[in-house]
Amino acid sequence: MSVSSAHSTGNSTESSLSEAGASVLTDQRIVVLDFGSQYAQLIARRVREQNVYCQIIRHDLSADRIAELAPKGIILSGGPSSVYEDGAPRCDPELFKLGIPVLGICYGLQVACEAFGGKVTNTSRREYGHAMCEIVQPGTLFDELPGEIDVWMSHGDQISAISEQFEPLARTSTCPFAAIRHKELPVYGMQFHPEVTHTPLGGKVLANFVRGICGCEPNWQLSDFADATVRQIRDAVGDRRVICGLSGGVDSSVVAALLYKAIGPQLTCILIDNGLLRQNEQALVIDEFTNHFKADLHVVDAEDRFLASLAGVVEPQEKRRRIGHDFIECFKKEAESIENAHFLAQGTLYPDVIESGADPDGPAATIKLHHNVGGLPEELGFELIEPLRDLFKDEVRRLGLELGLPEKLVWRHPFPGPGLAVRCLGEVTRDKLVVLRAADAIVIEEIEAAGLYRETSQTFAVLLPVQSVGVMGDARTYDNAIAVRSVNTDDFMTADWSRLPYELLARISTRIINEVKGVNRVCYDISSKPPATIEWE
Ligand code: XMP
Repeated sequence: MSVSSAHSTGNSTESSLSEAGASVLTDQRIVVLDFGSQYAQLIARRVREQNVYCQIIRHDLSADRIAELAPKGIILSGGPSSVYEDGAPRCDPELFKLGIPVLGICYGLQVACEAFGGKVTNTSRREYGHAMCEIVQPGTLFDELPGEIDVWMSHGDQISAISEQFEPLARTSTCPFAAIRHKELPVYGMQFHPEVTHTPLGGKVLANFVRGICGCEPNWQLSDFADATVRQIRDAVGDRRVICGLSGGVDSSVVAALLYKAIGPQLTCILIDNGLLRQNEQALVIDEFTNHFKADLHVVDAEDRFLASLAGVVEPQEKRRRIGHDFIECFKKEAESIENAHFLAQGTLYPDVIESGADPDGPAATIKLHHNVGGLPEELGFELIEPLRDLFKDEVRRLGLELGLPEKLVWRHPFPGPGLAVRCLGEVTRDKLVVLRAADAIVIEEIEAAGLYRETSQTFAVLLPVQSVGVMGDARTYDNAIAVRSVNTDDFMTADWSRLPYELLARISTRIINEVKGVNRVCYDISSKPPATIEWE
């Protein structure tokens, strides 16, 4: 968990680090030094799948600070930079002398190699995709693996020479040092990505490092995390009050559940209805909330204000900015009415931090402006509580179930902070929202009826800013088009469109056109992410 002063999401890792020792009941920790890879969290997730706690930290944390965390192993992630460029991110070279096993992956391998005098060069053409990797030295990293394994490469640079302290463990036809190890120190590295599913035996390679080389016991459980976090919240909060913004989504609900367990009546939740929620959502949230918690709930009806701000705005980032601004103003006003409020709880997850590039000093690139990350502004004067910022979505869901939240809520598809505004393309108006809400409700109803809600990761309707010609009865129509979007994804950073059965698509289309006034055409979005994003705006 992270408890820190408001807006501390900027220096995320330091703030959550300071809590790291206390928040997790295990001395078996692996740390991943993040060099800006989109895969850093995937590495952490693969380690946690082995019930070993894994935490992502800044790449430039000093060796002393890392030693304080007492990890059993250190993984250096990949990253978009080239080690030979000026200002390329590096780690403290002292960490190689801590005696703690180190595994460098891709860029991380190059960082480790360069620290010992190896040579990294550009390979003139980027190697991206599948490769066969021949194991030249079995055992340790490649224990119980065949002599050749399929691996996934994604790099422009590679090691052209290793210093004599290193020896090769594996090679591919184009990469002579696909895996290496230091002859004396516990330092290992690989050019390929063991964390991605395209390296089918990558899980075993990581397990060999985590369990075999680092000697970690598989004893980390989410229930330990919940108990430790509850205790930590109690200690930090004392007799003061915590405010929690509730959206009806799984993240804020799990935060509320954790806080309720920790401090019960000292919790006040605020639901801001911005008029951009889905069909019946306000009622649903109130219902679920009052059924599961007895804490204080404030519902702020702010539809008019948000819609007035959005009038005439078509640019997606401007919509987000205005919604973010109004949200802050509404929240602030409501919070002022709550006595003794000292803390603000937010449901920030680690992927939110990475995707938003919320760490200004971090090497990861900003992809999309997510208004709910970066937090509410400093002048609100709250201390932030972010109990989920080290967790992944699937872990948050499991935690929600452990805390007794209903399955339906825990498995609800994610819904963006700016709500239907980013699914109502172009200018947002009350009339358009009525059409979009009705169409979206049909999509969800049908996907649930087909038993496919849990099978898909996010399914929704989008109202397109075009009108097209149709014919209904004997009359010509000139009406709206709805796009149906449904994606499957593990981490929402990459996604593929769901292969929904034609019959289901046909039912959705027929129902929307028959039941939603103003729609005469339905399309199905068959783009993957990348290059598209999940939301249309
Ligand atoms: P994209 O569209 O970037 O979305 O592929 C990835 C995931 O993030 C959600 N999303 C948001 N969530 N505020 C949020 O809280 C936002 O501004 C926002 N934009 C996208 C999106 O629904 C998907 O789950």
